Amino acid sequence: FDCRRNTLWKYKEFMPVDEKKIVSLDEGGTPFCKCNKIGEDLGVDLYVKVEGSNPTGSFKDRGMSVGVTKAMELGVDTVGCASTGNTSASLAAYAARAGLRSIVLLPEGKVALGKLAQAMFHGAEVLSVDGNFDEALKTVSQLALEKYLYLLNSINPYRLEGQKSIGFEIVNDLGWESPDRIILPVGNAGNISAIWKGISEFYNAGYIEDKPMMTGIQAVGAAPIVNAFNKKSMKIDPITNPETIATAIRIGDPVSYTKALNAIYDSEGYAETVTDDEILDAQKLLGRKEGIGIEPASAASIAGLKKLRESGVIDKGEKIVCVVTGHLLKDPDTAIKASTPPIKVKSDVSELKKILENNN
Ligand code: F0G
Repeated sequence: FDCRRNTLWKYKEFMPVDEKKIVSLDEGGTPFCKCNKIGEDLGVDLYVKVEGSNPTGSFKDRGMSVGVTKAMELGVDTVGCASTGNTSASLAAYAARAGLRSIVLLPEGKVALGKLAQAMFHGAEVLSVDGNFDEALKTVSQLALEKYLYLLNSINPYRLEGQKSIGFEIVNDLGWESPDRIILPVGNAGNISAIWKGISEFYNAGYIEDKPMMTGIQAVGAAPIVNAFNKKSMKIDPITNPETIATAIRIGDPVSYTKALNAIYDSEGYAETVTDDEILDAQKLLGRKEGIGIEPASAASIAGLKKLRESGVIDKGEKIVCVVTGHLLKDPDTAIKASTPPIKVKSDVSELKKILENNN
């Protein structure tokens, strides 16, 4: 590998695109933080893969770098997606870098502010759709079929090729070793499929001797994959009106459900739901105990870990990697609501001393 730069392109031998066309913002190579405090409280060896440290603040950048590279290879002039926010933010930035027109469909009123700001700021044509993500995805897919745009949702296999690098990096971060388990939030179900692909490629290449149990977490109000898992089924019953505070994973009809269920079953993994309150508690826990700021959807992984440890699905001492998928500042409204507001003071030392002494 070319290890001079710590980006996903150090794995370029595993990426099925033309090296000369690479569109990159140095995505990948994200922090891998051992979380001793939460780990010890839960009785596991816990690591967190901090995907919010990617260029636009989510793991989507990995897939978008490879996807937009493929778009350049194909010579298209317009790219597009439907999105709960992060995909659109990433697409807008990579399209700007590549000089492509970008069109994004967002479910009206359900996209966190930071993500909307990014999509608009990087110059995407932002269409606010009267409907949820699943409906917007159906609409934009039709536009893609009619060749109005090159679709860069995770139904595009090149997105998954980029995101499989999370699996590669976890193995490398641990020193060429598989963890016992990888836990992550599941929405449209691309990422769990991608990480499993990466793990499987490294396993088949003989780089690792074991594979992790892939463990997907969904919000109670948007859990078609967990429902299928509980019935040991390969089919999902789509949820017509998905609801959760974690707007990134407010998805009822995930396109990659077959791949995701295969990943879970093949790895002897698990799927579980968490409530919105559990998500918000986990978000605060990671922020206040470990100093890692993540958006609500990402906290589903930590909430799921806690729940599965308490129910005994996760054994004591397991080596666990939680993938935290997006940055805290993606959703500033939720961050502010979860926090103590600033105290108004005069810039006066004696008044400040009083407040600090009272607060302590
Ligand atoms: N976490 C975050 C922060 C996300 O933005 C998403 C998906 C997921 C987890 C779930 O990943 O869909 O591959 O299962 N966001 C998409 C979007 C749907 O439009 O930004 P998945």
